[in-house]
Amino acid sequence: MILDHENIRRPAMINAPHILVFDSGVGGLSIVQHIRLHVPHATITYLADNLFFPYGVLDDQTLLSRTCEIVSWAHNHYQPSLIVIACNSASTLVLPHLRAILGVPVVGVVPAIKPAAAMSTTNVIGLLATPATIQRDYTDELIAEFAPHCEVIKVGSAALVDFVERKMAGLKPTENEIKHILSLFNQHPRWSSVDTVVLACTHFPLVKRELSDAAPSIKHWVDSGDAVARRVTSLLTSLPGELSSGAAVNRILFTSSSGITDTFKKGLQPFGFDEITILA
Ligand code: DGL
Repeated sequence: MILDHENIRRPAMINAPHILVFDSGVGGLSIVQHIRLHVPHATITYLADNLFFPYGVLDDQTLLSRTCEIVSWAHNHYQPSLIVIACNSASTLVLPHLRAILGVPVVGVVPAIKPAAAMSTTNVIGLLATPATIQRDYTDELIAEFAPHCEVIKVGSAALVDFVERKMAGLKPTENEIKHILSLFNQHPRWSSVDTVVLACTHFPLVKRELSDAAPSIKHWVDSGDAVARRVTSLLTSLPGELSSGAAVNRILFTSSSGITDTFKKGLQPFGFDEITILA
């Protein structure tokens, strides 16, 4: 039999970087949205370690060893060209450890203190994060370096992280629930001067509309999504190109089946994954 090679249909070969995005749950999807805008041709493998969720209340040693273990496994298994730790709670603790053990660039997501300090005209800033990120030395170092002229009012909330996971499962937080979380800021005498709030947990941009409706006096809600996507773009230009077929699969993986209901899967649809996999 003679094969006419010219006429065999092959998938188009495109230069498509493969990015692994990692978080404890759905929060890192707020980062995926920005990466897709900046690098639309990238293939994304998203790993949510919902077995150990929530990361924001784990003790440092557990968070460090779990993140190193699961991200190293995913790196070996999926061979991405770049990894994004789309979690402030993990990034503010584990980045140097991950960079020492992984052979690809690792981009972290850390509180956007620098742009917030530049945007604030009152120089009184709110920092909304997980309890873990709030108490990190790394966060204090960012404040000392980039916002020495500002008063920074910190609030740690694990409940808001939960609200975002519930929203993905179709249960939107009520106005009262959001107001209750923001009332933790009210206890500070200078809250009325706050004009800028840093959303220092990747889950929180997914309820930005609800937050701004509940606190209309806040002018700027600042997150790290765009800066992270720009960093990813610049690192990718210095990496060798990776040819892959145009049929590359965008996957989302969960380490536990807990909470992965049909409604939850429907909530994931706008994020453009071709496959949902439960690893456990
Ligand atoms: N989205 C993560 C962060 O940015 C973790 C939230 C959690 O699991 O507590 O901190």
